[in-house]
Amino acid sequence: MALFAIGDLHLSLASEKPMDVFGGGWEGYVDKIKLGFERVAPDDTVILCGDLSWGMTINESLADFRFIGELPGKKIILKGNHDYWFETVAKAKKFFEQNDIPNIEILNNNHFIYDEGAARVAICGTRGWLYDENMDGTHNGKIMAREVIRLEASLKSAPPDAGKICFFHYPPRFKNYVCADIIAVMEQYGVKRCWYGHIHGAAHRFAVTGTADGIEYNMVSADYLKFIPQRVCFSQTHML
Ligand SMILES: [Fe+2]
Ligand SMILES: [Fe+2]
Repeated sequence: MALFAIGDLHLSLASEKPMDVFGGGWEGYVDKIKLGFERVAPDDTVILCGDLSWGMTINESLADFRFIGELPGKKIILKGNHDYWFETVAKAKKFFEQNDIPNIEILNNNHFIYDEGAARVAICGTRGWLYDENMDGTHNGKIMAREVIRLEASLKSAPPDAGKICFFHYPPRFKNYVCADIIAVMEQYGVKRCWYGHIHGAAHRFAVTGTADGIEYNMVSADYLKFIPQRVCFSQTHML
């Protein structure tokens, strides 16, 4: 039993936005994802950190979710900025059920307990936000405030005695940008490790990884990981 994370599969199996056109690492990316998931066993769990499908509606995303459902392991998904298919948790759950798509859970104002014996942790998180993407004042602040509320709801839902780890789509730190609002909530709940995606191609070099002010940051967008899910390791040297 193991825990993995990867973001930004950007699937487009039934719509016209294949990522292969970007060339480089994205060429043949669907096969690369399949190959990358060979390291995942059926009883493992994989967190998918947003930007899952280019479908504009949930029905347009059906082929993508069939593909995700067939990948090994239980999947816990969270929303990215390109997940236009996502409307509500209830609608997505019903859709997965009606279409017999197994093993997909949604991280949204909730948590999931992951227990591999030596490590029992609560998987928490939300999409997050980057202030400098749309500098349009109040609107932007509202989105940030909403994401902070969602993160708090997720962390609050977890048992107080469980170690908490966080998963986001947007990076809480990027280049010189520090998302103080999100980081403050992680600090408040004693979160010491987090994972995020969203950053692609040439921007990888600005990604913040490693420990900053007591929190460990891990970048897991698919092209950064060469489409191989990253193992989330728990050891005595790893902070929960
Ligand atoms: Fe992305
Ligand atoms: Fe994104």
